Amino acid sequence: TRTPVNVTVTGAAGQIGYALLFRIASGHLLGADVPVNLRLLEIPQGLKAAEGVAMELDDCAFPLLRGITITDSAATAFDGANVGLLVGARPRTAGMERGDLLQANGGIFGPQGKAINDHAADDIKVLVVGNPANTNALIAQRNAPDVPAERFTAMTRLDHNRAVAQLAKKAGVTVDDVKKVTIWGNHSATQYPDLFQAEIAGKSGFEATGSDQAWVENDFIPTVAKRGAAIIEVRGASSAASAANAAIDHVHTWVNGTPAGDWTSMGIVSDGSYGVPEGLISSFPVTTKDGKFEIVQGLELSDFSRARIDASVAELAEERDAVQQLGLI
Ligand code: NAI
Repeated sequence: TRTPVNVTVTGAAGQIGYALLFRIASGHLLGADVPVNLRLLEIPQGLKAAEGVAMELDDCAFPLLRGITITDSAATAFDGANVGLLVGARPRTAGMERGDLLQANGGIFGPQGKAINDHAADDIKVLVVGNPANTNALIAQRNAPDVPAERFTAMTRLDHNRAVAQLAKKAGVTVDDVKKVTIWGNHSATQYPDLFQAEIAGKSGFEATGSDQAWVENDFIPTVAKRGAAIIEVRGASSAASAANAAIDHVHTWVNGTPAGDWTSMGIVSDGSYGVPEGLISSFPVTTKDGKFEIVQGLELSDFSRARIDASVAELAEERDAVQQLGLI
């Protein structure tokens, strides 16, 4: 029998947590033969609700679920953690300036980074979901100097999956015919969903969707980039099940690899590829294998793509400068 993998989920009592924990416990994160221990981190006000979720997890009698720990201590939650899903964050509320938002999140992701540094297992893999995800991941990473930087990632897989779904619909194919989609840059409205490198049922992404630059600029890109706001407007609450699904996909792909002939999108520490300043946590096209990832190299970018990537990366650099000025990294 295999040793259980310790999976820490922060913000476990939130709506993403509720959609995420049951799938982790049923084997969708790591595989149907991998037992897990769940470590649920919440703030004190969230502990009771987390207890309720744990009761429901018990009631599922998941064969792979070996234990549940509920705590408001990051040191306890990350003790021996192999996977960390950092979902809990401070949302932007009305009238909140960016500086206040970054400061509040620095107060969460700085200490969690330290706790990961001091207590997590040597093979820890971190996915930051809580927004602003890229910069929260940067804060956690910089507060964990003993952990290899590439273990800290930010989630753009939901944007990636949204782009795949929009492209399949437009091209009139099924989603598994859509390959090599890329989300570049920040998980924000400036992100650049790139269909020019994509392959759809044997054609380029541009051709398969009607070779229509106006559709790309005025429909495809804004639909993907503003999908979160559209969900809030229609559902009356922010995306939760699709966000949890993307978190599952992100870690599953990281651990189990990308299929041949395809890649995925992940927010990762830049090595300077494609002119993205080294050290920024930016989304790239990546392939994964044996628990490691590589940025897809050698893609030729048009002036249009270049300008879009540069704009989103400039926003990431501004956010980094802001958290640096606040002393958070
Ligand atoms: P939610 O408000 O339902 O849940 C957040 C939970 O985090 C709450 O239970 C809260 O008590 C907890 N929490 C707050 N601070 C914490 C801390 N320091 N330690 C532990 N737990 C803490 O929010 P929801 O809908 O689950 O979303 C969570 C985050 O995910 C938000 O920041 C949201 O913007 C982000 N998100 C990111 C997406 C992405 O694509 N990267 C997509 C969708 C949401």
